[in-house]
Amino acid sequence: METQVYIDGSYYPKSQAKISVYDHGLLYGDGIFEGIRIYDGNIFKLDEHLERLYESSRTIMLGIPLSLDELRDACIDAVRTNGLRDGYIRLMVTRGLGDLGLDPRKCPKATVIIIVDRISLFPKEFYEKGLEVATVPTTRNMADALNPKVKSLNYLNNVLAKIEANSMGVPEGIMLNSLGFVTEGTGDNIFSVKNSTLRTPPTFDGALEGITRNTVMEIASKLGYTCEKKTLTRHDLYNSDECFLTGTAAEIIPVIGIDGRAIGKGEPGPVFKQLLERFRKLTRTDGVRAFPSDLAEGELFVIGFK
Ligand SMILES: Cc1ncc(COP(=O)(O)O)c(C=O)c1O
Repeated sequence: METQVYIDGSYYPKSQAKISVYDHGLLYGDGIFEGIRIYDGNIFKLDEHLERLYESSRTIMLGIPLSLDELRDACIDAVRTNGLRDGYIRLMVTRGLGDLGLDPRKCPKATVIIIVDRISLFPKEFYEKGLEVATVPTTRNMADALNPKVKSLNYLNNVLAKIEANSMGVPEGIMLNSLGFVTEGTGDNIFSVKNSTLRTPPTFDGALEGITRNTVMEIASKLGYTCEKKTLTRHDLYNSDECFLTGTAAEIIPVIGIDGRAIGKGEPGPVFKQLLERFRKLTRTDGVRAFPSDLAEGELFVIGFK
């Protein structure tokens, strides 16, 4: 069956799922989105993603035409309609149909789009061997111009960073802010581990308040690691014992080299491995179920509480 895309309450086959060229999501990148993962029939952290979406909408003064509960039901329905037990949801709300001027008052109704499909951000071998990354020349958008907590449809800043990383021959770029402090990857947050302390840049340095980042910090704290949101320089990254990226699409992926310097022993480290194991378990239990699990209830219970 062809992927069925939800647009404003109706489903369309992927080949016919279209919106107007007058939609301000296209004309101006005026809109917001979430990327959400489905693991073993469980929509992981669905409520946290919806909360962030509604926060973004409040800040950009975009009225979502569905209540949070209605949108939650629509996401579950879109997953069931597509029958995907393992996959990815791209939930978008654009400013909607307007004229060629950017004034949002000309857009009477936001457009809601839900795509349920598969995603693979990095090849599997990188999860086992780790990634080489590089800091890129394009700096992250200023946090006081557009708060990085807003997950907007305007990703040109990140796209430029990705192009630069590609041209440097690495699969991911690390963006600095205009003060030279580390912010994040093009679609993922970054962590540095040093002496059993996990550090990740704070939002005001230019990082998205990542849901995977928060999950990793919760797991790490439970395991007894200290976690800090702290300003980081390239020097801090180069001298990390371990480094990794986190994101819904990227999951947790080890970084073994930055700007030609090996990180730690130049291989995925023990903290990363420990976190990944716990994270994988959590993805099956924490969230909203669209389909019953493949695992027996007892097994799930054990996973959830281990
Ligand atoms: C710029 C950016 N940073 C970080 C992340 C990771 O956030 P999350 O873990 O909520 O997916 C994303 C994910 O889309 C992103 O686009």
